[in-house]
Amino acid sequence: MNKITIIGGGNLGKSIISGLASSDIFEAKNITVVDKSKYNLKEVKEKLGVATSQDIITAIKDVKWVILCVQPRQLDVVLDEIKPVLTKDQILISTVTGTSIAEINEFVPTNKVIRVMPNTGASKKLSMTCIAANEDVKEELAIVEKMFDTIGETLVIEERLMQAATVLGASGIAFFLRFLRAMIQGGIQMGFHPHEAQIIAVQTAIGAATLVAENGTHPEREIDKVTTPQGCTIEGLNEMEHQGLSSSVIKGVMASYEKINTIK
Ligand SMILES: NC(=O)c1ccc[n+]([C@@H]2O[C@H](COP(=O)([O-])OP(=O)(O)OC[C@H]3O[C@@H](n4cnc5c(N)ncnc54)[C@H](OP(=O)(O)O)[C@@H]3O)[C@@H](O)[C@H]2O)c1
Repeated sequence: MNKITIIGGGNLGKSIISGLASSDIFEAKNITVVDKSKYNLKEVKEKLGVATSQDIITAIKDVKWVILCVQPRQLDVVLDEIKPVLTKDQILISTVTGTSIAEINEFVPTNKVIRVMPNTGASKKLSMTCIAANEDVKEELAIVEKMFDTIGETLVIEERLMQAATVLGASGIAFFLRFLRAMIQGGIQMGFHPHEAQIIAVQTAIGAATLVAENGTHPEREIDKVTTPQGCTIEGLNEMEHQGLSSSVIKGVMASYEKINTIK
């Protein structure tokens, strides 16, 4: 029963599959990907050696773990399809934004539903995955943690924070990348070729994040270390703040949070 089926081999599905396929939790042949698109299936089969199928019913038979990786608007159709064959022993892991464990439980016979919110860093084993489950699936929760530990960092959170986790962790990829793009544009304006500016900005971002991650310090502590009084760094930082950097980021995060709470 150490088999897993991923329903939906799109953006996120592919990232999770590539992480899991190179971990030692599942052999590639025990990972099945179901998707409507033959193109997506061909890609994961050729690149990762996993099994593929367009037959959702067969693909979830004799499988212990099922990951739902479809768009929120596609979830009802998928749950309707799997409902007749899903057993109480099977564990549903949902990545789907905005649908609660209770809502999924209403639809399908299994009570074993675990929600996860990874991000596309999963394909590089650098996902941030927030996980939420009810008390009655503690044993399975520990296994799901291990599963997603293979593709990055995990954090078990209360389900009420799942929408916030989506904004900070999943949309967060886009937010950080937009900042990275702005840094690259600044580098180009100062005279670097775009590819040089990108190399410098990307490595600097990795360095900055790693300092905080490995030193366990607050970002401002690391900022102090590179901020000479009356120097160029504080000049740049203060100008960014005068232009509303922190304020616009916090407002953007909150706008995203308000939006996610209206999406169904
Ligand atoms: N992208 C992220 O960073 C991210 C992060 C965290 C969570 N999520 C959540 O993850 C879920 C998937 O997101 P995504 O960006 O990976 O979406 P996506 O790229 O649209 O992938 C979904 C895939 O599932 C396929 N599919 C839909 N219904 C199906 C069915 N009945 N049977 C088989 N395949 C089916 C779709 O095919 P068609 O395109 O042909 O319909 C598509 O290839 C969403 O609920 C999203 O909220 C995403």
